[in-house]
Amino acid sequence: MAALVVVGSQWGDEGKGKIVDLLAKDADVIVRYQGGSNAGHTVITNKGTFIFHLIPSGILYRGKVCVLGNGVVIDPGGLIGELDHLQTQGITFGKRFVISHRAHLIMPYHKAIDKAAEQAKGARRIGTTGRGIGPAYVDKMARIGIRMGDLLNPDLFRQKVQENLVEINAFLKHIHNADGFTVDLIAKEYEAYGERLRPYIADVSVALDRAMSKKQRILFEGAQGTHLDVDFGTYPFVTSSSACAGGACTGSGVGPTKIDAVLGVTKAYTTRVGGGPFVTELQDEIGQMLMTRGHEYGSTTGRARRCGWLDSVLLRHAVRTNGLTSLAITKLDVLDGAKELKICTGYRYQGKLYKEMPADLEVLQGCEPVYERWAGWATDTTGLRAYKALPMAAKRYLRRIEELTGCPMDMISTGSKREDTIVLRNPLTTSRKR
Ligand code: IMP
Repeated sequence: MAALVVVGSQWGDEGKGKIVDLLAKDADVIVRYQGGSNAGHTVITNKGTFIFHLIPSGILYRGKVCVLGNGVVIDPGGLIGELDHLQTQGITFGKRFVISHRAHLIMPYHKAIDKAAEQAKGARRIGTTGRGIGPAYVDKMARIGIRMGDLLNPDLFRQKVQENLVEINAFLKHIHNADGFTVDLIAKEYEAYGERLRPYIADVSVALDRAMSKKQRILFEGAQGTHLDVDFGTYPFVTSSSACAGGACTGSGVGPTKIDAVLGVTKAYTTRVGGGPFVTELQDEIGQMLMTRGHEYGSTTGRARRCGWLDSVLLRHAVRTNGLTSLAITKLDVLDGAKELKICTGYRYQGKLYKEMPADLEVLQGCEPVYERWAGWATDTTGLRAYKALPMAAKRYLRRIEELTGCPMDMISTGSKREDTIVLRNPLTTSRKR
């Protein structure tokens, strides 16, 4: 196995961080390919608690190379803060950290536009993380974005910022009644970032090609999840990047023929942060129980996550759009003690049964879930590491997920520590016939 992509099958926060951290032990290179510091996860090891927003958590392992691909949008100040923090925790970088020359920068005005646009939307707001992600991708597509490589050429950088500010300051002032920016302040701040990040900036596509020709194992780490993908998610309540597996290719400069497998990380129930449709959402004591037991608060914004039953319509969409080859089920232990569990098998809208995700937001917002009921289990599964130790009802629930998605399960996570995992098969070191 040379290249594995790990993606979220739901709306992000599936526990990808822990699964990626576990798999990183057997990888040589770990690559982030989309999103920015809207993502966030915490890794707990015997050395302490580490919080990541941009840098792949694989950096915790000695000798692993960690990469930010061209598809990532980078807030250089935030990135340096993360580098500094990890360094104070004893993590070394050196040649182990590479940033794509082609990755776009998040500028101060992107954050200002993100916040102002959300405020202006009122009830229709998306509930963004306010990190400037959307506006940075807008500039990239509008071909006025400023890239990591531009930081290395201060004169060119300054010229690009100056050109952009003409329109951006007018937009902030006249449309949003907000303050504008001056080129001098931005140039001064970003020039210092350029000097600090210079040693890490390189051509990621070339670096990954070299690693692959040396038969190294590459782990692609998706951020957010399938249903936040700008094309296949619940548009417009999505993020602005390609969170699906295809993004691994366009966001790193590796061709699709080089990808061997795609692992879909799936929470044993469903959560979502921010606005947008959520057919299996529970606004009752069961939803509250999932939120409390699962510590369902966003690691980037601290917002409470909306919780609901597992939805196989969402998962089938994820299997298809990502070409998932296997699943990793996380947070199974959160369901311990529930008398009955429900799995959504279809949606009903105006008398019609939908087995696949409707693309139309109006339809999706009006859908009612069609459930099947499964017996829960009273046993504590926290920290279990062997499949045979699971209660029969939990095994039945898991097998039903495999049946409904048509996708085999490789891993089951039963707690927040690296070791609290049942590994049926390591998808990075073993091939599965497709
Ligand atoms: P943005 O990515 O900040 O533009 O936010 C767009 C939508 O994606 C909002 O609903 C956010 O709450 C959601 N979102 C962005 N990043 C994450 C994440 O890492 N986990 C879960 N939701 C996210």
